[in-house]
Amino acid sequence: MATDVAVRAVKLVREYPRRDGTRILAVDCLTMSIAYGQVFALIGPNGAGKTTFIKMCSTLVTPTSGTLVVNGFDVNREDAEVRRTVGVQLVNRRALYWKLTALENIEFFAALHGMSAKECRRRAAELLPLMGLERQAGERVETFSGGMMQRLMICVALLHTPRLLLLDEPTAGLDPVTASDLRYHIKQFARDGSAVVVATHNMSEAEDIANNVAMIGQGKLVAYGTPSQVRALYGPTLAEAKFSGDTSGLDAALGIFPHLSLQPHGVGAVTARFSADQDLERVAATIRVRLTDTGSPATLEELNLRKPNLDDIFIHYTSAKKAQQ
Ligand SMILES: Nc1ncnc2c1ncn2[C@@H]1O[C@H](COP(=O)(O)OP(=O)(O)OP(=O)(O)O)[C@@H](O)[C@H]1O
Ligand SMILES: [Mg+2]
Repeated sequence: MATDVAVRAVKLVREYPRRDGTRILAVDCLTMSIAYGQVFALIGPNGAGKTTFIKMCSTLVTPTSGTLVVNGFDVNREDAEVRRTVGVQLVNRRALYWKLTALENIEFFAALHGMSAKECRRRAAELLPLMGLERQAGERVETFSGGMMQRLMICVALLHTPRLLLLDEPTAGLDPVTASDLRYHIKQFARDGSAVVVATHNMSEAEDIANNVAMIGQGKLVAYGTPSQVRALYGPTLAEAKFSGDTSGLDAALGIFPHLSLQPHGVGAVTARFSADQDLERVAATIRVRLTDTGSPATLEELNLRKPNLDDIFIHYTSAKKAQQ
């Protein structure tokens, strides 16, 4: 079926049963779409639901409710078509056959996709050098380093030239040069017209490669847009203030600042982040007045003003203690 979006999720839900009979809401009423020709970064803390979303898009896990259409095919009713048109790399290295060589793994997965031997050879000759594995083509996977396995899993995901490529933490465990090389290929793949979904914990990677970013927290969409739209939360200037001493009253003292989040560090140290104007002295003076007015014994140790980045946005949405907006 012709479609202009690679992924359309509407009120998508996935629950997992717990042993005690209750349920984990891994993906909770998620509505979003992913267009062709773009790299889409999925970010969020451990357990947010990123991998579950990727698994649903590749039919490895079925949705509990809601709609999920991938490359124009419904994941429930047209799962074979979905599998034919998506490529997926998951964190699990056991997805490869360790007793087989790299090339034999590629041949095995090519056969599953119904590719001819000739087509498989052509793709292997393209992909193995692309991922820097041409010299290891005849080596058994059990002799590979973690990064080499990761690169081979990406070769396998790309084998049938999918219209949607799903990558779960693709650069985790890769050396910086290989990771940067892979980021280049991810962008190239999207420029060629496919959609690429990348789950990552690396915020500078998300800023670098993504046209759009979705931040997920407890299965829900908490922020969405281009990296600069997502970063716009704080405005042009973010204040980062470090406090020591009794910091229990900081919430009340600093609650006047927009987008306040408080992050504890060890015993009695807290970093506060909030939107601020660009005058360091003025911000410091306001903080001191507020500490006095609210009777807070906390001490302001350090104050910096800077341009916010995606790390700050991530911390804002996931910090343990956050002032109500
Ligand atoms: N097979 C499973 N059975 C039961 N619960 C599961 C299963 N897979 C995932 N979960 C739960 O679903 C939630 C979402 O997990 P998921 O792996 O999707 O998160 P994630 O965002 O990929 O996290 P991470 O950053 O750690 O990879 C978590 O609470 C997790 O414990
Ligand atoms: Mg995961």
